[in-house]
Amino acid sequence: MLDQFIYKPIHSLPESGEIASKSPSNIALVKYWGKKPIQIPTNPSISFTLTNCFTKTNISFKKSENFSFNFTVKGVEKPSFVPKIESFLERIKEWCPYIFSYQIDIDTENTFPHSSGIASSASGFSALALAVLELEQKITGISNENKYLKASFLSRLGSGSASRSLYGPAAIWGQHKNIPSTSDQYAIAYHDLHENFKNYQDTILLIDKGTKKVSSTVGHELMHNHPFSKQRFSQASSNLESMINVLKSGDLHKFISITESEALTLHAMMMTSSPYFILMKQGTLAAIEKIWSFRSESKVPLSFTLDAGANVHLLYPLAYKQQVLDFIDNELIVFCQNQHYISDEVGSGANIISASYA
Ligand code: PMV
Repeated sequence: MLDQFIYKPIHSLPESGEIASKSPSNIALVKYWGKKPIQIPTNPSISFTLTNCFTKTNISFKKSENFSFNFTVKGVEKPSFVPKIESFLERIKEWCPYIFSYQIDIDTENTFPHSSGIASSASGFSALALAVLELEQKITGISNENKYLKASFLSRLGSGSASRSLYGPAAIWGQHKNIPSTSDQYAIAYHDLHENFKNYQDTILLIDKGTKKVSSTVGHELMHNHPFSKQRFSQASSNLESMINVLKSGDLHKFISITESEALTLHAMMMTSSPYFILMKQGTLAAIEKIWSFRSESKVPLSFTLDAGANVHLLYPLAYKQQVLDFIDNELIVFCQNQHYISDEVGSGANIISASYA
């Protein structure tokens, strides 16, 4: 099944080069929570790809007898990131042996504040994987379609949710028996969106910008002996099917109920694991209550979702943007740290900005 990802060079390796790529973050509507080695999800998930929260990555490489890499963020060395990149490169070695013929400088930059509580692993690993695959395409001539599939496959080995960032407007990761072409190994693009979901908005309330109390690695781990894991995994599969019908039909009412239930279920899993965690803050709950009152009074189809943290993602159709921004400024901004929120919307995925070889 993974034969398509085997490295088959047809040209010689370039002596040196420089590649710049760009990849966005994504927000899951049906959540991935729980995995098996190596980064195989215990249930399928679907996400909207974002636009404004992205990572830009530049790799410059020069042939060398000895492999080495250097990692910087906007030109500044970040030793704390090095072990993660090192183990990522080790994992992808089997699939991309050519990178070990180079000395590589990796420089990255995020558009969202580093300590905003927005995970940079999805955008970061997918941007790096796509840059690597651009070099591979130069050597092997693989098709663009395979380039993205393999980039998604590699991204998954860095961070599961990163596999979904390659494509827009939405992406599905994880095998589902009723959804053709789905795989645990990589994500696939999902395009069939009703008009209601085109340019769908995601405004992220930064309730708590601190680093996560529980890393997602630990969180996934806690699903292993979780008393409700079996029910949760089958619920996610059935929610994914329902969500796809919703995205096709444009049923905003159903969209709201699946999305919010998924967010609360994710947190319920953490609250009922051993050890247990509460990752919401008072501001998270207060914002949710305000959202519910606003929705029932204004009839604006505004819903929320949550990641494994306290920040609240507000999801709504573009047509209601001004009304929702006024609501945020009047009622929700008090819950945001330093009154900070990020305006984002559904986007088209990762791409290569430039590539040059010598
Ligand atoms: O990709 P990871 O290991 O950081 O896990 C992400 C898990 C959630 O963001 C909570 C859900 C999801 O599907 O993105």
